[in-house]
Amino acid sequence: GKVAVLFGGRSAEREVSLKSGAAVLAALLKSGVDAHAFDPAQRDLSELKKEKFDRVFIILHGRYGEDGTVQGALELMDIPYTGSGVMASAIAMDKWRTKLVWQAAGLPIPEYEALTAPSDWNAVADHLDLPLFVKPSSEGSSVGVTKVKTVDELPIAYAEAAKYDKVVIAESFMSGGEYTATILNGRALPVIKIEPANEFYDYEAKYLRDDTRYLCPCGLSVEQEAEMQHLALLAFQLIGCQGWGRVDFLRGDDGKFYLLEINTAPGMTDHSLVPMAARQAGISFEQLVVQILEGAGI
Ligand code: DAL
Ligand code: MG
Repeated sequence: GKVAVLFGGRSAEREVSLKSGAAVLAALLKSGVDAHAFDPAQRDLSELKKEKFDRVFIILHGRYGEDGTVQGALELMDIPYTGSGVMASAIAMDKWRTKLVWQAAGLPIPEYEALTAPSDWNAVADHLDLPLFVKPSSEGSSVGVTKVKTVDELPIAYAEAAKYDKVVIAESFMSGGEYTATILNGRALPVIKIEPANEFYDYEAKYLRDDTRYLCPCGLSVEQEAEMQHLALLAFQLIGCQGWGRVDFLRGDDGKFYLLEINTAPGMTDHSLVPMAARQAGISFEQLVVQILEGAGI
């Protein structure tokens, strides 16, 4: 059948999606799939029906694509698509509500506060300790995120994050390292440890710099890695996610793993983590995109 690869879009992560989408499209074509580029920022989604697309590969990042909106339109048009459905996409886009779900289920998350208005910054710093992270609840690729080291940086970081969202999260920093686990069709792929050269794994480290270190194998013991993979699957299922995605973690000073967020349409650029985890599992980029596509509509 005919497959539309949805990429580009009109979120703050448009540039990232253009790269991810180009890679996915090329890999599908190489695998013999009748795939076509489709940018919802330039064309109306109703054209998918008119042009008789059988399936959609969603590789839009951020709002209007990774957040349930496009998924809802596709449900109405009865066109199967890759990844999570409407509800899980919407929750996962919203870090605050994701935390509420995990917290209710007793899963480990870092200490945090949701800030919906300027706050008592001293109280926030006392509660969470410095350094801490300030981030918009519903963004990706670290857009609007600041690592805050002193109390007087807090209002500035808040204002930056508030440009992107009404809800701003303040979250404890943990020094045990950044990790990520990819979920692909019901199983977790090998964990990656990320060691950014600068303060944290920000937009620059993700896409622009080449000095971030990626460890895969991640250096954890077999038991620890299995524990993280188990937690990733549980967290994924609890939000109701489907198909594929990437669950991000911090490791605490106590050696335990803490959930940060789920990306339901994670990056597929040449700098991205999911292709790296797949490679470690013996899955080529072409095989990966075909397996993600096979998960559409299941
Ligand atoms: N939000 C970016 C694309 C990621 O999670 O990979
Ligand atoms: Mg994200």
